Amino acid sequence: MQLPSVLVLNGPNLNLLGTREPAIYGSETLDDVARLCREAAERLHLEVDFRQSNAEHELIDWLHETRTRVDGIVINAGAYTHTSLAIADALSAIAKPVIEVHISNVHKREAFRHHSFVSPVAEAVIVGCGTQGYVLALERMATLLAAKLPVKSAVEVSQ
Ligand code: DQA
Repeated sequence: MQLPSVLVLNGPNLNLLGTREPAIYGSETLDDVARLCREAAERLHLEVDFRQSNAEHELIDWLHETRTRVDGIVINAGAYTHTSLAIADALSAIAKPVIEVHISNVHKREAFRHHSFVSPVAEAVIVGCGTQGYVLALERMATLLAAKLPVKSAVEVSQ
């Protein structure tokens, strides 16, 4: 049986997690976040494709490339959250459920972080929960996808 597939997309500077402003973003690295996501995915019976890029066009290209095979998108677009209409347009074009994540509570920070181009195209937004936000997003995504996926027959379930 094919598991529902979720693209977990990370934007600029998130490759520096662990050393980047630890008072704000904590001490876990991006590899630690990827591991957290893979563990959650296994528990939730999801397949996760975890990626990071500092380039806006690469994030958009990945959204285009995976659009027919992913069932949902979890995105921390980093600073592109606050600037990129292009990423928001790509997310809209794909028409799959999107959950926006921010490690820090952006609403407690500078005013320029309060606006998000991603939020209007997201089903849910998780901020300020640290890296646990990614796990919470995958849990919510599993619920959303289970509600949309065709119900399996009793025979399939017992196999
Ligand atoms: C961030 C918040 C953004 O404002 C910032 O530019 C980031 C990280 C977060 O996860 O808290 O790069 O998305």
